[in-house]
Parts: sequence; structure tokens; C-alpha cells
Amino acid sequence: MVKNTYETLGDRAPKPCAIGDAHGVAMAFTEPGTTVTPFPFQHPELLDNEIRIHVTHAGLCHSDIFVSTLGWGENVNFPLVPGHEIVGVVEKVGERVSRFHVGDRVGFGVWRECCEQYESCRECRNGFDNLCPKAKLTYDPYFGGYATSFQAHASHFYKISDDFPGQAAPLFCAGLTVFSPLNTHMRAGMKVGVVGVGGLGHLGLKFARAMGAEVTAISTNPHKIEEAKSFGAHHFLNSRDEQQMKEAANSFDFILDTAIQINIDQDCKLIKPRGILNIVGLPDARENLNFNLFTILGKNINLTANPVGSRWEGDQMLEFCRVHDVYPLVEEYKFADCQAAVNSLAHGVPHYPKFRNVMETASFMETFTPSK
Ligand SMILES: NC(=O)c1ccc[n+]([C@@H]2O[C@H](COP(=O)([O-])OP(=O)(O)OC[C@H]3O[C@@H](n4cnc5c(N)ncnc54)[C@H](OP(=O)(O)O)[C@@H]3O)[C@@H](O)[C@H]2O)c1
Ligand SMILES: [Zn+2]
Ligand SMILES: [Zn+2]
Repeated sequence: MVKNTYETLGDRAPKPCAIGDAHGVAMAFTEPGTTVTPFPFQHPELLDNEIRIHVTHAGLCHSDIFVSTLGWGENVNFPLVPGHEIVGVVEKVGERVSRFHVGDRVGFGVWRECCEQYESCRECRNGFDNLCPKAKLTYDPYFGGYATSFQAHASHFYKISDDFPGQAAPLFCAGLTVFSPLNTHMRAGMKVGVVGVGGLGHLGLKFARAMGAEVTAISTNPHKIEEAKSFGAHHFLNSRDEQQMKEAANSFDFILDTAIQINIDQDCKLIKPRGILNIVGLPDARENLNFNLFTILGKNINLTANPVGSRWEGDQMLEFCRVHDVYPLVEEYKFADCQAAVNSLAHGVPHYPKFRNVMETASFMETFTPSK
């Protein structure tokens, strides 16, 4: 059964209001599905450890669609405002916040909070705040980045330089999700296959190449060959071509699977004995994920899967991107055209994202003055 955002958050819930009284306008899913509605709202009172930002850019992640369509379960709060690839400018600062000032440019990703109890929490203490048992996600029940305004504890914002391209917002989910396992398990010189050339996958290709791998894009769509090569792929494998797949068997040290449908058996066939299969794609939970354990066991494959990386990995990633000039390829949509960006991601209408859809709010802000 779906839940109600106002009941879940009580007096900490954002409240719908008239546009003249609104701190921000969100693009909300008011019920399960893929339809968004403009939603003027007021934030709850700013806590002394929070900051409020004016969102300039927000990326759309396939996870947003899995959540809004109940693909990962029914425990979703509506109205739902997704968005966890956020770039913006600080607008208001809580009294106890010293790390940020009004006017600073910031980024925000998937993790809203963690327990920060360094004595008692092994994960927070060791820098794995993304694995903290009390880690909270950016949206659901809270409002995320499909909005002109966003508010959260200061702890999980990234400070970004004024020359950081706002459209690079997808680094904060897509980027960090693929940077983390490549940086942890991959070594230069390895033969790496990236399955799925989408939002995560195209960044996987870029990072793997910049880290010194011999990189192959593995895609269901042979029309992506030129684009995949422009992202750094040395080779291209059409996963729908049986002959190509047969010839590529046992040839990879590392496979990073970023697709929305995961085929573990297919991945394992491609991997050399003692190789690594790292899954980051997360399919619709209503579909069975069958695989043959003999393939994994027989080749002694290291099977691993990870959520979005931690804060320190995020800082490392931003530095890596700056040095190696790794940024997502985005298609920009005006904030008012959020529905078009959603249709592209969810239904491929009129076309699938190339390669990340990002909303920008600048033109919208010419028509909307937020209440202070
Ligand atoms: N681990 C995490 O923490 C984390 C973080 C973010 C996202 N995710 C998950 O990662 C996945 C990818 O997200 P995204 O935003 O990158 O999505 P996306 O931009 O839509 O890309 C997904 C790619 O999957 C491939 N694909 C589509 N249909 C397929 C099918 N039927 N069989 C096999 N492959 C198919 C396509 O690549 P080709 O055309 O090249 O085949 C497509 O570009 C989603 O499941 C998302 O929820 C996980
Ligand atoms: Zn995401
Ligand atoms: Zn913790």
C-alpha cells in the first residue's frame, strides 16, 4: 500500500500552498505512474543545521521511474518529488552551519543524512556513510530535486566551484555509483566491459577509460557504437548478437552491469575465471532475477554490487572529474518541460535520453518569485 507524505513526515512535511506563498515549485507525482504535476509548496521551518538552496539543475535517474511506478515496492510516499542529482546555489543557512554561505554553489546526491555517531557506528567511523544503517535517502518521503528549491541538513552537500558545469548534476548519483566500484576494484590494464550505455553506463565508460582500462561497451543497441566510442570505449559488443557474444566469452577481467535489466548468466559467460562482476543496475523487483549459481561458482567469479558511493568517494570523484575532464553528456530540458524529460526516460518518447536528461530552472525563475 502506498503511503502519504504528510502523514509520514507530520510537521516536517513540505506543505502545498498558493503560488504566491510558495518557497518553491516542485514537479510532483501525486499518484503512482509517470505523470508529474507542478506543485507550489512551502518548506518546513529551516532547522539550525540545515541549508536551503535554489536548485539550478536536476538530473533524472532511472531509479526515479522505478520508485514512481512502484517497481521497487509499494512503500512509496505520495506526493512524491524525486531527484537526487542536484546542483544549486545556497539561499538560506541555518544558525549552526558554518561550512556554507549564501551564494555558494553546491551539489547534492542520493544520501540525505547518516547517523554521524562516530563512536558507535562502524560505517560512519570508517567513511562508509553510504552504508550507515540509519542513512536516509534524499527523497521519499522528503522532497527531492525535481523542484526549484531544496532543503536538507548541511552535512551531505558538496561544495562545488563556481566553474563546475551545472549540467554535470548527474555526477552526484550516476557518476558516484559507477566511480565507486571502478575506483575500488578495477586496476589499470584490466579488460573492462560496461553493460548498458545509458545514464550510468556512459559515465562508466568514461571513468574506466580515464582509469586506464581497455574498455568495451556492451549494449543491446548497435546504433550506439559511435557514441560509446566517443565516451572512451575501445570496443563495442552487441549483446543481441549471439556470434559476437560467443566470441567474447571468457575475455573480461571486470564487468560493470548498469542496465535496467540484469542478465547475470550472460555477464558471467563473458568474464574470465576469477574475474569480477559488479552490478549497479537495479531492475524492476516484480521481474524475477534468475541466474545459474554453477556459472558463478564454477569460474570462481567475484560477485559484488554497490549503492551510490560515500561522501569521501564523492569528493574523490569530483577531483578526478576535474583532472580528467570527465563529465556527463546531458540533454537539457526546461523545468516546465519536466514531463517531456520523464516521458523520454520512462517510455523513450519521443526518444531515449542521450545520455542523461537534466532540468534547468533558469527560465522558469523568470516567471516565478519565491516567497522568503
Ligand atoms: N546501484 C545504485 O545505487 C544505483 C544508482 C543509480 C541508478 N541505479 C540503477 O541503475 C540502472 C540504470 O539507471 P540509468 O539511470 O543509467 O538508466 P538509463 O539511463 O535508462 O540506462 C539504462 C540502460 O539499460 C539498457 N537497457 C534498456 N533496456 C534494456 C533491456 N531490456 N535489457 C538490457 N538492457 C537494457 C540500455 O542500454 P543499451 O541501450 O546500451 O543496452 C539503457 O541505456 C537502473 O536500474 C537504476 O535504478 C542504481
Ligand atoms: Zn540515481
Ligand atoms: Zn552511521
